[in-house]
Amino acid sequence: MTLADRLGGLAFGGDYNPEQWDEAVWREDDELMRRAGVNLATVGVFSWALLEPAEGEYDFAWLDDQLDRLHANGVAVDLATPTASPPPWFTLAHPDALPVTADGTRLVHGSRDTYCLVAPAYRDAARRIATALAERYGNHPAVALWHVHNEYLTLCWCDQVAAAFRNWLRRRYDGLDALNEAWGTAFWSQHYTAWDQVLPPRATQWHKNPGQALDFRRFWSDEALAAYREQRDAIRGHSDRLVTTNLMVPAYQNLDLWAFGREVDVVAIDHYPSGPGIDAAADTAFGGDRARSFGGGRPWLLMEQGTNTVYTADRILAKEPGEILRHSLGHLAHGADGTLFFQWRQSRAGAEQWHSAMVPHAGPDSRIHREVVALGSALGRLGELAGSTVRAHAAVLHDSDAWWSMDGDGLPSADLDYRSALARAHRALWNAGVTTDFAHPEHDLSRYRLVLAPALFLLSDAGAANLRRFVAGGGTLLVQYANGVVDDRLHARLGGYPAAPLREALGIRVEEHRPLARDERLVLSDGTHGDCWSESVRLHGAEAVAAYTTGMLAGSPALTRHGRGWYLSTRLDDAGYAALIARLLAAASVEPDLPGLPPGVEAVTRHAEDGRRWHIVLNHTAEPARLPASAHDLLTAGAIHEVRPGGCAVLRSP
Ligand code: GLA
Repeated sequence: MTLADRLGGLAFGGDYNPEQWDEAVWREDDELMRRAGVNLATVGVFSWALLEPAEGEYDFAWLDDQLDRLHANGVAVDLATPTASPPPWFTLAHPDALPVTADGTRLVHGSRDTYCLVAPAYRDAARRIATALAERYGNHPAVALWHVHNEYLTLCWCDQVAAAFRNWLRRRYDGLDALNEAWGTAFWSQHYTAWDQVLPPRATQWHKNPGQALDFRRFWSDEALAAYREQRDAIRGHSDRLVTTNLMVPAYQNLDLWAFGREVDVVAIDHYPSGPGIDAAADTAFGGDRARSFGGGRPWLLMEQGTNTVYTADRILAKEPGEILRHSLGHLAHGADGTLFFQWRQSRAGAEQWHSAMVPHAGPDSRIHREVVALGSALGRLGELAGSTVRAHAAVLHDSDAWWSMDGDGLPSADLDYRSALARAHRALWNAGVTTDFAHPEHDLSRYRLVLAPALFLLSDAGAANLRRFVAGGGTLLVQYANGVVDDRLHARLGGYPAAPLREALGIRVEEHRPLARDERLVLSDGTHGDCWSESVRLHGAEAVAAYTTGMLAGSPALTRHGRGWYLSTRLDDAGYAALIARLLAAASVEPDLPGLPPGVEAVTRHAEDGRRWHIVLNHTAEPARLPASAHDLLTAGAIHEVRPGGCAVLRSP
């Protein structure tokens, strides 16, 4: 049974932390949730200290009351295991389960996420509390979903991690010789002669060994997934409800989200936009398209977003009027079957008291709460979309190994940035109105007409062969600079870049990298500009579409084409990149979901299995947006021919 089946429609609600409040407030919560149409509350994320006040002693009475109360009020529960925030008694009882930073500092309680994910004492405690919760609430009528942990993100470099890392390496490598070979320890006198010499990549004097750093990321992701599976399996022993964890799609990446996508019953992400205005809208699409893709196209759940300001160390972002609805429908457009917030009621005290909420400090008589209520009522009118999916003919390749390969020390340029290259490729398609999937370089790509491959600095042999197959099968492929440079052990490709099968598919050979200085801009023969990076490209069958005009590379190819295989050897300026993407879309016959809309107006189509279709139209501009044809809008329950500035429409396709 899907979540939407269990809820009877799209999910709407948020993290609910009633332990911060008293009975009078709970009564008001009941009434406000009913009025807003909340049907799902995430409970217990940070409740470990209350649920288990001393090791092995549980107190479930308060949670019994909360679940019963929510259930009586028609609100289903996404029940969390509280393992992201162990209580102080845990620290004192298990000091060896506290995280140690790369420079050797052991952290203590007083915040949250203070545990070493690998420490047996932590894992046992986590499994025990998950099991106890599942035994008690596995069949509780309120429980619709299990929320394991919260955002697996902390890393640790302690001795227990070192031991576990060695075990992982022993399974991966057929002996220490193979490890020495893979990590290139012949250089800098790093040769290991015994396993216990091998450490996690702790603080070092200078560049870390790249192979060691990459393997540590892989190891950590596997550990996090194992920790998730332990709790999930403990829950499944007592409950038939869906199980998930809230993944993050932020600016860094500690997890292989493809692997998590295979293990969760429904993909759930938290999303806090990286910029304001149109950038927030593009980032919403970027997050949503990844969430959908990690789940193989299934409907997913937006587990957390903010109603307004989010305070973090480096950014303060507020939502403008109308954005609560527009961002939420943005997630829906990209395949979500519901949208939740962090959190229901804004905390009066504690570390996140200034983080926005569905009921702000000002109370229900506030702009924010009114917009929340309006969203609830809009979602109530969109129930027929539940279970429908999004179809894409274009894909951007995304791989955590490639990401991690570009996080290391000693790269050929400090300005190569995986995430921004990935986001830029997606943004160019989004700007063109095209719906985009993400795919792993080794996935079957045959359903796509156009594939963009930005920033695969690391590309496996299998990935390179897969891309050659894609082009041979008639797909249009754009491979971008600094691609296929190393294999999955981070060993440089010899004889020229990228990997051989890809060189063949593209009809080129890259002989030399020429990273550019920060203020350097090269002019290409078609009038566009390149910055950040350039390459000396030799043609082996491809034609030059544009050439460099200055410096050592003057006259040599910058952009090439070999049948349907395109290669771009520099980072193009925005206009040049947009023009190239437009050309590729035309060549591959990929069209917007709803052609004819002005720039800044987004439209994505959701398809039901029985052939019904809905266009979700989001006007991110300050001008009214005319629709190509008048259509029935589910939000206003009438025919419309334009969408007001900043407004949204959900058009039922005839
Ligand atoms: C994360 C966490 C929440 C909350 C929000 C604040 O997504 O899961 O507990 O801290 O960030 O943005």
